[in-house]
Amino acid sequence: MKLIISKEELVSVISGLKSTNTTIGFVPTMGALHRGHLSLVTESVKQNHYTVASIFVNPTQFNNPNDLKNYPRMLDHDLKALKQSGCDIVFAPETNDIYDTEEIKRPFEFDFKGLDKVMEGKFRPNHFNGVVHIVSKLFELVRPDRAYFGEKDFQQLAIIRLMTDSYDMPVEIVSCPIVREESGLAMSSRNMLLSEHQRDVASHIYAVLKESLLFVPNTPIYELKQCTIAAIEQKPELKVEYFEIVNGHTLQDVEKWEDADYIVGCVTVYCGNVRLIDNICYKKL
Ligand code: PAJ
Repeated sequence: MKLIISKEELVSVISGLKSTNTTIGFVPTMGALHRGHLSLVTESVKQNHYTVASIFVNPTQFNNPNDLKNYPRMLDHDLKALKQSGCDIVFAPETNDIYDTEEIKRPFEFDFKGLDKVMEGKFRPNHFNGVVHIVSKLFELVRPDRAYFGEKDFQQLAIIRLMTDSYDMPVEIVSCPIVREESGLAMSSRNMLLSEHQRDVASHIYAVLKESLLFVPNTPIYELKQCTIAAIEQKPELKVEYFEIVNGHTLQDVEKWEDADYIVGCVTVYCGNVRLIDNICYKKL
């Protein structure tokens, strides 16, 4: 496995690969890797001749400077895990090799067609501008045939698909299922910020989501939303920021179960100070 820090070196290695008849799979990450990230790498290794992973804590997608400062950084651990998963190239650039001082200050402009106004977008202004900015830059450098994203970040996945469609990018976006702890808690780099007790409590989120499946389609959506929020908040340590039941393609609210062929429930919950996201698919035809 090759570690590349400089953009120039990456571009030169990629053009070498592109000149032969090979496919490149790409897994963008911010590091602090766990089994969720590595499942994307494993999928890419299966489907492509070469797999490139990036590790870059992207400053433009953080709303809170403290969150950026405290984001876990553990390159040695990540490199070991990537090597074991069969990754071929790791790109871990420095911030100033990716952004110049001006562009880092202003939000990247992109027509989200409303996808950024709901759920995460509502609570994290300009977060997705930062995501689209960095992913489009990385796609330009890596020129992947396929790129892998987790369904855990459901809205991000929808926005990345919109980006590749809007810019007509020649890359297939492959979505990968949520990897969970044995307790059901969705794996996340933020889980390491939870105490043992909080981790236990946080597993209640998925337990409630799973149970909510039993009420589909006989309970009205509005009622299921209220009941699910109340059930999660039965644990005093958990506070729901939002729980939306949306059309899986447009991310807009759905009022009735028959109104869309793809329906997903997306939740964000605070467990103490730690913000956790999860989702569940209610309907996919
Ligand atoms: P990061 O949070 O590091 O996640 C990298 C990728 O791993 C994303 O596609 C995310 O959905 C996926 N992932 C995280 N936890 C997962 C889990 N439990 N199961 C399956 N997949 C999981 O998402 C980002 O970084 C950034 O926004 C990025 C796309 C790299 C742009 O900076």
